[in-house]
Amino acid sequence: MKITALRPDFTQLEQELLTVFYFEDQDTASFTALKQQSPTLIDSLLKKKALSAKLGSVTPLIGHANLPCSHLLVIGCGKIADFSERSFIATIKTLVVEAKKSVSTSVAIAIDEIKPAQRSTRWCVEKATETLLTGLYQYDTTKSKKAEPSVLTHIAYLAGEQDLELAMQTGKSMAHGINLARELGNLPANICDPTFLAEQSVNLADAYDEIDVEIIEEAQMTEMGMGAFLAVSQGSDKAGKIIVLKYNGGQAGQKPHVLVGKGLTFDSGGISIKAAAGMEEMKWDMLGAASVLGTLSAIAELKPAINVIGVIATAENMVSGGATRPGDVVTCMNGKTVEIINTDAEGRLVLCDTLTYVERFEPASVIDIATLTGAIVVGLGHHATGVYANDEQLQAKLLSAGLNSWDRGWPMPLWDDYKVDLESPYADFRNVGSRAGGSITAALYLSEFTQNYSWAHLDIAGTGWYSAKEGATGRPVAMLTRYLLDRAE
Ligand code: BES
Ligand code: MN
Ligand code: ZN
Repeated sequence: MKITALRPDFTQLEQELLTVFYFEDQDTASFTALKQQSPTLIDSLLKKKALSAKLGSVTPLIGHANLPCSHLLVIGCGKIADFSERSFIATIKTLVVEAKKSVSTSVAIAIDEIKPAQRSTRWCVEKATETLLTGLYQYDTTKSKKAEPSVLTHIAYLAGEQDLELAMQTGKSMAHGINLARELGNLPANICDPTFLAEQSVNLADAYDEIDVEIIEEAQMTEMGMGAFLAVSQGSDKAGKIIVLKYNGGQAGQKPHVLVGKGLTFDSGGISIKAAAGMEEMKWDMLGAASVLGTLSAIAELKPAINVIGVIATAENMVSGGATRPGDVVTCMNGKTVEIINTDAEGRLVLCDTLTYVERFEPASVIDIATLTGAIVVGLGHHATGVYANDEQLQAKLLSAGLNSWDRGWPMPLWDDYKVDLESPYADFRNVGSRAGGSITAALYLSEFTQNYSWAHLDIAGTGWYSAKEGATGRPVAMLTRYLLDRAE
């Protein structure tokens, strides 16, 4: 995809498709140009009330207007004062759907005309690029009939400001990372298993000189005493793995930022088996891992001067004669013991040993990303990622990265008050609390393993995906990428 920036001149456009933004209460430059070039057409459309300014409405004008583009789309934008980031993204999503339908190879977007209050042209260009390129993604890998490839090859932003190269590149790389995470998420568990994730990681390391990869197998985990991780993996015929990807963009001695992704390629619940209805959704229980790969891919393309280590804790939670029983007590890598009350609370078990493992990197920060609890979906629904941290500054940085990339999180508490729920008569902890505050007790369990560094936990069970039709969202690749880019500046 070629992406460029041009100064707006609506009479000189070479693009096939021009989007004309139409507000209820103010004429944009593109609409004014259309009115000037084709006054009779616009007059009659206005008289017939055939042009709608309602947000998201589309009026295509093909071959009628006296403008050089063969195809015009008048896109309704509502009232100028109501036009928010949400409206901006909705408008770009409408645009990409219509651009696909129009079979145009190039599109011109007067981006300054739809700037939400408080946002810069650069922000709009970055977000529009990400939204356009993620809007073109279509899952078809396991279908015999492949999706029609899009013919769109050129996006031209019409903008007063011309220093937009970085914004375009950032949006593009974020989109590539997001689409990678979505594809890995959407693949079924019989294809995307721990070995597959390891292969994908090797491919990423092969593609970039800055990335090295190491894969830790179960034999090594046994040596390291990762009793909690192995208790999850032992019920499956597929071996679990810890994948370590190192992006070396900074100085050799510079402390790395570590991302740890939950990579349960399938979560049946184990002996505490899940209900049949909707169990297929648990192929998405590796979206934390997918977001780590997606973020590293974006970072590898953008090459900021920082060191990042992506760690993927991947296994399958299955049922077998060798599976862990409720009530089993295991010893974690840090020597603490845990009574496994519910084998379906497996994410925290694979993560706790992985979080102990990453201490050796002397990290600047550690962020784990996990589809950890159904409770966060009850609490925050599908719009906000739950953001926990043992360091308020780190939490604030992630919330601000989320706001800036419009991949938003919301702060959650890690108060000791909730901790009594994890007490066990037989071990140092039990692996589940009561039903109340289920996402918080899960985070508190993890906090027992992260006391030696600055740590945050993102519960993405609600935001990583929300319906079978839409599939994986690729969140929070944008938030994480923005967080890391900001650390380099
Ligand atoms: N992977 C699930 C959490 C989940 C639920 C993700 C719904 C996406 C959508 C996790 O392993 C799990 O099963 N959690 C249990 C914990 C409970 C047993 C304490 C849950 O949330 O019900
Ligand atoms: Mn589970
Ligand atoms: Zn799970």
